Amino acid sequence: MGVILAQLKRLTRSRTLGFATVAVLGTTLTAPQTAAQSLQERLELCGTCHGESGNSKMENTPSLAGQPALFLTNQLILMRENLRKSEVMAPFVKGLKDDQIVALAEHYAKLKPVPSDEPIDQALVARGKVLAEQMHCGSCHLTGYEGREQMPRLAQQRIDYLILTLTAYREGTRSGIDTSMNGVMVGVSDQDIRALAHHAASIR
Ligand code: HEC
Ligand code: HEC
Repeated sequence: MGVILAQLKRLTRSRTLGFATVAVLGTTLTAPQTAAQSLQERLELCGTCHGESGNSKMENTPSLAGQPALFLTNQLILMRENLRKSEVMAPFVKGLKDDQIVALAEHYAKLKPVPSDEPIDQALVARGKVLAEQMHCGSCHLTGYEGREQMPRLAQQRIDYLILTLTAYREGTRSGIDTSMNGVMVGVSDQDIRALAHHAASIR
């Protein structure tokens, strides 16, 4: 396990690496992952990508700190069942039992969210604020964007991940526990997605 973790750490430190490669390696690296693996060992593995404190420093990889436990539980189950398709995550959720998923979710829900160091564009923030009001994002994600129950926190999330995932909802390549986000994102332009992402990430 220690050797595997060290390999993964080395691998994930290189940001230029494509997801596909990580996914392929992930499959082989997680082979020894069994039900016997402790929560602590599992968290160490998750932390190589999502950050030890649940705040991700890795491109296109979401922070998990401060997300509602129910949201995290749902997403892990969706990914385990391949209803949310993620090649990167697949090897890490494979075979997890429901109670193991709940323990992971509860751990991350308790951690403090910290913003990433990505540059925030204030012109996009201003545009995003107007759009967010028109599109009622706060009615579900709450006005402070802290999320609740099945609705994720958006505040302090990584900008690059927000852009990717909002685009995925628009394209229909991600749908969640329901299709509300697919409905919200119909016809939203790339530039408006960027604005929504910068606005959401800027909320403290
Ligand atoms: C190799 C890097 C890597 C490892 C290791 C990893 N993840 Fe992920 N995780 C990702 C990426 C990248 C995504 C975004 C996937 C997507 O949207 O396609 C993700 C998505 C998630 C999400 C969805 C979050 C959201 O905001 O929608 C959760 C929850 C999650 N991971 C939890 C975990 C847990 C728990 C572990 C350990 C058991 C883990 N991850 C291990 C890279 C990783
Ligand atoms: C009707 C309620 C509702 C509205 C309105 C809404 N959302 Fe959501 N949003 C949700 C739910 C529920 C989820 C979780 C869906 C899932 O399981 O994938 C979600 C997920 C997301 C995610 C994924 C976050 C992550 O960590 O994976 C983002 C980003 C997001 N919403 C942004 C927005 C933005 C921006 C707006 C306004 C343009 C908006 N939402 C409007 C209910 C809503």
